[in-house]
Amino acid sequence: MKSVQLKDGTTLKIREARGDDAEKIIEYMNAVGGESNFLTFGKKECRLSAEEERDALQNLLCRPPNLFLVGFAGDGLACCANFVAPRNARVAHNCEMSVTVRKKYWHLGAATALLEELIAHAKANPSLEAVHLGVYENNGRAIRLYRKFGFEYSGCLRRYFRVGDRYYDEILMDLSLRR
Ligand SMILES: CC(C)(COP(=O)(O)OP(=O)(O)OC[C@H]1O[C@@H](n2cnc3c(N)ncnc32)[C@H](O)[C@@H]1OP(=O)(O)O)[C@@H](O)C(=O)NCCC(=O)NCCS
Repeated sequence: MKSVQLKDGTTLKIREARGDDAEKIIEYMNAVGGESNFLTFGKKECRLSAEEERDALQNLLCRPPNLFLVGFAGDGLACCANFVAPRNARVAHNCEMSVTVRKKYWHLGAATALLEELIAHAKANPSLEAVHLGVYENNGRAIRLYRKFGFEYSGCLRRYFRVGDRYYDEILMDLSLRR
């Protein structure tokens, strides 16, 4: 467990997720999906039951080096971040990362605190060599955040996202852990 103070004085407690966080994580996903158009899902589009989410979470957590971090402000889930590595040996030196923060906690340093923790874990794992992510082309704030941590542009999937009738490219970024 790590405690950090956000820019407005709120205490954020960061720890690894547990199976019994499943219900809170579903509630969180359903809310955060409606707070921006920068995710692959919208408001109330997380259709898993608490049981399915718990199974998915436990399945993810029991496979090292995967990591799922949750950040709580009081009892409320304020932010989440995770990385998942593929199982096949030829690609298992990579992991895919994602991060979200509830809107009322944006700009306070929550994502920065989560990423510091997440990247430290990734670096400490000798099997991992690179962290990859994808981000909407118009998500300037997230792109700045990733650049701050050393992520570099590595490619683009054209018109990958469709929100309503608008298409957006997916910008691919990666961070080398061994350079
Ligand atoms: C993107 C997101 C994760 C950032 O979370 P956050 O907790 O607000 O980020 P932080 O407060 O740690 O800020 C991180 C960096 O983002 C950038 N940033 C923050 N606010 C910004 C703003 N208003 N304008 C431009 N850049 C900004 C800065 O580089 C900042 O670092 P600094 O404070 O050292 O200057 C959050 O806005 C979010 O969840 N958005 C919706 C979902 C999403 O976009 N997820 C990412 C999908 S790829």
